[in-house]
Amino acid sequence: MHRHNVFNVSTLLLVAANLLIPVAILLFAVGFFPYKPFLPGLAEYQSPEYGPPPKAPFDRLIFMVVDALRRLIKDGVAIPYTAHATSPTITMPRIKAITTGSTPSFLDAILSFDEADTSSTLAAQDTWLAQMKAKKSGKLVMYGDDTWLKLFPGVFDRADGTSSFFVSDFTEVDNNVTRHIPDELRNDDWNTMVLHYLGLDHIGHKTGPRGPNMIPKQQEMDGIVRLIYEAMETQPHLGSTLLVFCGDHGMNDAGNHGASSPGETSPALVFVSPKLKSISKPLKVPADFVEDFQYYNAVEQSDLAPTLAALLGFPVPKNNLGSFMVDFLPFWPESK
Ligand SMILES: *[C@@H]1O[C@H](CO)[C@@H](O)[C@H](O)[C@H]1NC(C)=O
Ligand SMILES: [Zn+2]
Repeated sequence: MHRHNVFNVSTLLLVAANLLIPVAILLFAVGFFPYKPFLPGLAEYQSPEYGPPPKAPFDRLIFMVVDALRRLIKDGVAIPYTAHATSPTITMPRIKAITTGSTPSFLDAILSFDEADTSSTLAAQDTWLAQMKAKKSGKLVMYGDDTWLKLFPGVFDRADGTSSFFVSDFTEVDNNVTRHIPDELRNDDWNTMVLHYLGLDHIGHKTGPRGPNMIPKQQEMDGIVRLIYEAMETQPHLGSTLLVFCGDHGMNDAGNHGASSPGETSPALVFVSPKLKSISKPLKVPADFVEDFQYYNAVEQSDLAPTLAALLGFPVPKNNLGSFMVDFLPFWPESK
């Protein structure tokens, strides 16, 4: 009789253990693939008791992404950072972090491979693109990686998308972006221009970061920054333009990316404008070599959204988790 009871208890324990395995897997999955509800709608300025929102120093944004850029510091009037990119270091989740200020989960990595997936578009979400569009002070234009066109369908007024499908194409994929720039710099009907260059990423995948095509490509990218900067200095309608120049992710020593090595997670981020002369501190250019790519100050990619909000004068996007980059505070010397 007593023996029988023991048998019953151990059977019960065995059954319970087997039932708990799926529960444990479920718990793990919930933790590893968290579902984050997104707040719908656009953020609006609140609490008028403090008076109107602070005046924005800039009215136009040129957002230049060089895919897989690890490091490329320009001299000139610039505030440089290393912007930490969380893993997975692939383009789609990085654009999500950069534009919404939130940190996408691993689920986004899976969705990123499904090119036809439209459930993950950001067109209806609160991003700095939606906020710049809501300002109605100009059109939104986009040249380069068509991931932006897939993530933001219908958001851009003019666009020419390039595909990252032909990885061996180092030149045409970038010339198709650059050829639009001179005309757009003469246009004054836009308030946001996104440029996303894929050539450097393609070179990385083919030959690694030290391949023979890498230096000429970096010089080409330098030349484009110079072209834009000179227009900002000389053309009156570009007088209050902010150029943000960054990598969406970096690359490892084999020229690939997706994981979390320092080379992959440490892309450069540079703010450029003649107006920054008044607030920037002198820095050593080029910076001394550092092993782990942590050049200048470190920020998170998600800090871009709230910083752009203050610099261009729109409310911080609703799902933002980033924080304002304090180096820009001298733009508002008074307490009000
Ligand atoms: C570049 O533009 C031309 C003309 O629009 C197009 O035929 C070509 O496919 C484009 N190339 C790439 C890599 O996007
Ligand atoms: Zn790549």
